Amino acid sequence: MPVTRVLTGITTSGTPHLGNYAGAIRPAVAASRRAGVESFYFLADYHALIKTFDPARVQRSTLEIAASWLACGLEPDKVWFYRQSDIPEVTELTWLLTGVAGKGLLNRAHAYKAAVDRNRAAGEDDDAGVSAGLFMYPVLMAADILLFKAHSVPVGRDQVQHIEMARDFGARFNHVYGEHFVLPEAAIEESVATLPGLDGRKMSKSYDNTIPLFAPPAELRKLIFSIVTDSRAPGEAKDTQGSALFQLYQAFATPEQTDAFARAYADGIGWGDAKQALFDRVDAEVAPMRARYDELIAKPVEIEAILREGALKARKIAAPLLEALRHAVGLRDLRTQAAAKSDAKAKSALAQFKQYREKDGQFYFKLLAADGTELMQSVGHASPRDAGECIAALKRDGAVTLRHVAGAGLHLGAQRVGELAGGTHIEDVAIALAAFAQEGS
Ligand code: TRP
Repeated sequence: MPVTRVLTGITTSGTPHLGNYAGAIRPAVAASRRAGVESFYFLADYHALIKTFDPARVQRSTLEIAASWLACGLEPDKVWFYRQSDIPEVTELTWLLTGVAGKGLLNRAHAYKAAVDRNRAAGEDDDAGVSAGLFMYPVLMAADILLFKAHSVPVGRDQVQHIEMARDFGARFNHVYGEHFVLPEAAIEESVATLPGLDGRKMSKSYDNTIPLFAPPAELRKLIFSIVTDSRAPGEAKDTQGSALFQLYQAFATPEQTDAFARAYADGIGWGDAKQALFDRVDAEVAPMRARYDELIAKPVEIEAILREGALKARKIAAPLLEALRHAVGLRDLRTQAAAKSDAKAKSALAQFKQYREKDGQFYFKLLAADGTELMQSVGHASPRDAGECIAALKRDGAVTLRHVAGAGLHLGAQRVGELAGGTHIEDVAIALAAFAQEGS
């Protein structure tokens, strides 16, 4: 069975909440246990720097997210679990991709366009407050993905455009420098609807309506009891449609439990009882993981070690690819230039001089190319020694100074040395002689 590589990054700018769990962590951990899948999950801390300027928050979030994924059952020895900033190849590849990334395409990125639109609405300069980092965000993300030749990238809808850009940059690079990258596909988990938050809108840090995944039970209960509901009294039938409470329940219940909850809605369950039922469901699923989380978060040294181990494992893949890419684009060891030259030398050195004596008693030679084609034929010399001296002069200076004089043959300086063979160009002779000149130097 061909292996599918699945890769996704988690920006380290916040605390994992129930929406992250149901929408990303839970399906990812389940997928990582499937046969034929290689999973790459990483902490996108470089990306966090675009969103927050609070260093303590980046560090705290990195610890919390790492502990959360591990507490939720991710097995670091079965997957590739690492921190983006531990992989120098990521930033190196980002620059290589920058050269093929169309600025026009980046202009059309949703996040950047939204910033420009806000500026225009406010009568500001288009790029006011926009960092080059925000603009380049999709290139960094493409590097994350292309570096590990991921086939499939599970992301939210808002990230699909970024995956398309990664395909675009990868394809351009492949076109210019040869096939190096796999072009990734976005995988949107259709079955996992985005969870609503406390106010009924999508649960998101930016709406400040989240329920932290590992809030202590008392806080979890308090938050669940603050979920917005309508004003129907106990005994009145409730609508499951559009009920944030119901949707949250569904995300943590079996189909049977969900059916029973829907009947309770129809039967007029009071909101207090419904909220208690939701708390019980969520806590039942989360409690064992919370215990592991609390243990892990108390041991940052161990988490650091796990991430470093993960980085070593990831770099085993990343480093050789970067080496190939550097070579592909021309960032090369200069000594390979000498090797390339001596290669050429080896080839042209196969050209050779053949000496012989004619019936006229004089000594002649021919220059033969590697494949045996005759390149030139000498004039006659009185002795083998004279012929040898002429050959030596040709080897030494011929590549540069040999000229073809129309009707008067080949000349080395003032001396006539021979004739071009039929169908041969002086260039061919010069190339063959150049090899000898190099040999002598
Ligand atoms: N930009 C993604 C987000 O905000 C996080 C991310 C960074 C990512 N690099 C990635 C996701 C590579 C998938 C693949 O959600």
